[in-house]
Amino acid sequence: MNILLLGSGGREHALAYSMSLSPQCDKLYIAPGNAGTAKLGMNLKVQPSDFDSVARACILYDIHLLVVGPEAPLVDGIRDNLLAREELSKLAIFGPGASGAILEGSKDYSKAFMQRHNIPTASYNTFDAATYEEGRAYIMSKHLPIVLKADGLAAGKGVVICHNHADAVQHYDDMLLHKAFGEASSRVVIEEFLTGIEMSVFVLYDGKDYRILPEAKDYKKIGEGDQGPNTGGMGAVSPVSFHDETLQQHIEETIIKPTINGLTAENIDYRGVIFIGLIIEKGIAKVIEYNCRFGDPETEIILPRIDSDVAELLWATATGNLAQCNLSISSKASAGVVVVSGGYPGDYEKGITIEGMEGIQWDSTRIYHAGTKAMDNITVSNGGRVLVAVSLADTLAGALQKSYASLENIHFDGMY
Ligand code: AMP
Ligand code: GLY
Repeated sequence: MNILLLGSGGREHALAYSMSLSPQCDKLYIAPGNAGTAKLGMNLKVQPSDFDSVARACILYDIHLLVVGPEAPLVDGIRDNLLAREELSKLAIFGPGASGAILEGSKDYSKAFMQRHNIPTASYNTFDAATYEEGRAYIMSKHLPIVLKADGLAAGKGVVICHNHADAVQHYDDMLLHKAFGEASSRVVIEEFLTGIEMSVFVLYDGKDYRILPEAKDYKKIGEGDQGPNTGGMGAVSPVSFHDETLQQHIEETIIKPTINGLTAENIDYRGVIFIGLIIEKGIAKVIEYNCRFGDPETEIILPRIDSDVAELLWATATGNLAQCNLSISSKASAGVVVVSGGYPGDYEKGITIEGMEGIQWDSTRIYHAGTKAMDNITVSNGGRVLVAVSLADTLAGALQKSYASLENIHFDGMY
C-alpha cells in the first residue's frame, strides 16, 4: 500500500521509520516531513492544515492509508472533510473524526464525557464570559493548589497550576478577559489539583476492538533532575517502573473500557489512537487528559518496543480489522533523550548546522529528527526540539546510557 503521513516532528520520523520496515509499505510520503523522513520516503510540500492540498496529494500519489500525526487537523475535521469527497471515500484514515478529536480539542467536552461515563478524573467546573463572576467565586472557594486550563488547543501551554488565590484569579482574568490563548481560552476549566505520579497509555481503537500499546512516562522539565520550566517533553521511558499487571488491569477496567464504551454509546467515529494521560496515586488512576493522536516524544520511545508490523497495525486500526492483528511487545527497556536548541523552551535560533549525523548506524539506537531541515547537503536545526536519541537495552539504565553515548559525536551550537 501507499502511505501518506502528515506532520514534521520526531513522532512522524519514528512512525515513518517503523512503517518503512513493513513489507506492506510500498511508497511512503510525508507532508511536510523533516530531514530525517526525507531519507525514508518522499517529503511533500503540503501543510496538514490545507485539506484541499492533502486531498490532491492522496489522489496524485494513489494513497491507500493516510496517517495523521498532529492533533490540529484532526480537531479541525480532516477525516470528515476527506471522506466526504467522492474520489476519496475509500481512503483509510488513521485518526478520529472531529466528533472524537474533540476529546482533545475541548477540555470542557472531555471532562463532561468522563463525567457521563463515570471515568475517574479531577473534579471541575467550566466558566466563560457569561459566568465570569461565578468563576471568580469558585476559585476563591477552592483548596490550593488549583488548576486552570484553557478549554481549546493551546500547543501544550494552556494549563497553569496556581498556588495562591490571587495568582489564580490573575491567570483566570488573563485567559478569559484578555484572551491569553485567543479563542482557546474563551472558556476556562477550573480543576482540582491531583497528586501522584503521571504516566501515559496509548490505545489503538478501530471502532470495535482495541489494543493497548506499551505505556510510557515522559519528562517535561528542561533541567537535569526534573527541574525548571516545562517543555514539549525532554525524554521518555518505557516500560514505567511502577506499572505492573495489577495497575494495567485497573487502568483497563476503570478507564480504557469505560472510554471505549462511552465512544460507542455516543456513536463517535473513532479510528486511531487514544492517548490517555494519567495520574496514579496509591494504585488508583485518574485521567488528566485525552489526546487524539500519538504523543511526542512518547511515540519515539514506544515504537522500538513494538515487534509487530506497525504499518499493518495502523492500517487495521483505520479499516476496522484490529481483531485480526497480533501485537507483540518487546520486554526490553526503551529510553529517549531529547536534544534541544539553546534557549528552549524560551527563544532559540533555527537554521544552525548539525554536525556528526553522517554514518549513524541504526541498530539498537535510533536518532530521530524532531526539528530539522535539509539544506543542500547539510542538516540544520528547525525547531526547539531538534533530535531524539532512543535506545533499547535489557535495563532502563543501560538504555539511557546508550542514548547519551550515541549523541557524543553529534554537535551544533547551543545544543542541550
Ligand atoms: P494537560 O495539558 O491537561 O496534560 O496538562 C499539562 C500538565 O499539567 C499535566 O501533564 C500535569 O503535569 C499537569 N496537570 C494537569 N491537570 C492537573 C491536575 N488536575 N492536577 C495536577 N496536575 C495537573
Ligand atoms: N508528550 C506529551 C504530548 O505529546 O502531548
